[in-house]
Amino acid sequence: MYNPTLRAQKKVLLCEDGSNTLFSEEFNEPYHSTKDGALHESLEKHVKPALTIHKNKCSLSILDICFGLGYNTFATIYYIKKYQLKTKIHIISPEFDEALICSLSSFDYPPEFDNIKPIIKAISEDFYYEDEQFKIEILLGDARLSVPNIKEKVDIIYQDAFSPVHNPLLWTGEFFADIAGIVKEDAILTTYSTAAAIRLGLYENGFLIFVHYGEMTRYSTIASMKMLKDLEYIDMELKKLRNPTAQSFKDEDYL
Ligand SMILES: C[S@@+](CC[C@H](N)C(=O)[O-])C[C@H]1O[C@@H](n2cnc3c(N)ncnc32)[C@H](O)[C@@H]1O
Repeated sequence: MYNPTLRAQKKVLLCEDGSNTLFSEEFNEPYHSTKDGALHESLEKHVKPALTIHKNKCSLSILDICFGLGYNTFATIYYIKKYQLKTKIHIISPEFDEALICSLSSFDYPPEFDNIKPIIKAISEDFYYEDEQFKIEILLGDARLSVPNIKEKVDIIYQDAFSPVHNPLLWTGEFFADIAGIVKEDAILTTYSTAAAIRLGLYENGFLIFVHYGEMTRYSTIASMKMLKDLEYIDMELKKLRNPTAQSFKDEDYL
């Protein structure tokens, strides 16, 4: 399934929002949509909707799948600092590409991340950062092994793995069941994927499905353990009736 011999082969790509991302030879895919832009996509599809939905909480636990270049984690810190929010943030993020994390202190991030450079450096050296507001933990290794062992219940999941076609084991019903096992009762999951099979896998594991329209970006999915007001709800029972052959991804098809 995975090909560690190709893992180190990556090249830098410039996105349309001016931020840099990487192209992975192992997954034959960029880390972010170059059209939407790494920073823009992270803010619009993950950080803004998640922090808006949970704006009344004073502390948030976030599962960031997977760390990669860390845009979702760093954009969360950037957003909290920019708006001077007092929310305490604990981010837990699996990642099996240890060499990538070690290289992040020299990655050319956008200027928005300039004042969090010490945090980026700490993570690239220690896989960990903590101050009075932020605690960031990288779980080195396979997310399929680390996620079921997370003890803390999370409020937010950023599901930002490579695409279901290229990284199916991070999109199966079984993986979503593991995620559902570590969520709070009002948890939400943000993802760029709008595929029926992915929404079905989330729905089968207790999530309700909604459409999210970010600014100047393609629409995306928000899945929630509770009904959300003000978001476009997708009736998955109706979807199943209209498309009775639709199926979620199953581990057995990819192991
Ligand atoms: C699309 S990138 C994540 C982008 C990231 N959210 C960001 O903002 O930069 C996917 C990441 O998942 C990692 N990955 C893929 N399969 C994994 C697995 N089974 N366990 C842990 N990490 C995995 C890859 O090494 C890659 O860094």
